[in-house]
Amino acid sequence: MVGFNDAVMKEVQGLFKRYPKKQHALLPILHLVMRENQGCVPEGWEDYVAELCETSLNHIRGVITFYDMIRKEPTGKFHIRVCTCVPCGMCGGDQIKNHIIKKLAIHPGHTTPDGLFSLEEVQCLAACDKAPLIQVNGNNPEKVTEESIDIWIQEMRQKG
Ligand code: FES
Repeated sequence: MVGFNDAVMKEVQGLFKRYPKKQHALLPILHLVMRENQGCVPEGWEDYVAELCETSLNHIRGVITFYDMIRKEPTGKFHIRVCTCVPCGMCGGDQIKNHIIKKLAIHPGHTTPDGLFSLEEVQCLAACDKAPLIQVNGNNPEKVTEESIDIWIQEMRQKG
C-alpha cells in the first residue's frame, strides 16, 4: 500500500515544521519511505511523495536518481555498507569487502537469496579513525575484522 500510516505522518509533520517549504523536507521524507519499504522507494511512492511535498514528479525523480543512497530496489533485512575509501582501504577495507563477498556469496548491489543480507560498497562513512569499518542499516559505523564479521553473520542468521 502506498502512503504513510498515522505514526509516520506525525514524523512527516515534524519534518515539515523544520523547513520553510514542504519540498525542502524531501530527503528526510525519502529516507522515511525507505525505512518503511525494505530500504527502497517502490513503485507508486514517487507520486505520493510529490503530492505530499507539494512538488513535481520530475523533481522527485531527479533527486532519487542523483543520490545513490536513495534506492529503488529492496535491500536485505541487514543492509551492509562496506567502506573501501583510501583510509579504510589502507587498513584492510578491500579485504573486508572481499571477505563479505566470499562469506555471503553476493557482490555489492546484490541481496542473498534468503533476503537476509545485501551489500553495498561505499566511500567514506566519516568515521575514518575506526577503519576498516562497515555500517549496517544506517546505524553507527563499526570497526570490524574478518573474525568479527563471521561471528556477526552467524548471529544474524540464527536470529533470521
Ligand atoms: S575512509 Fe572509511 S570511513 Fe572514512
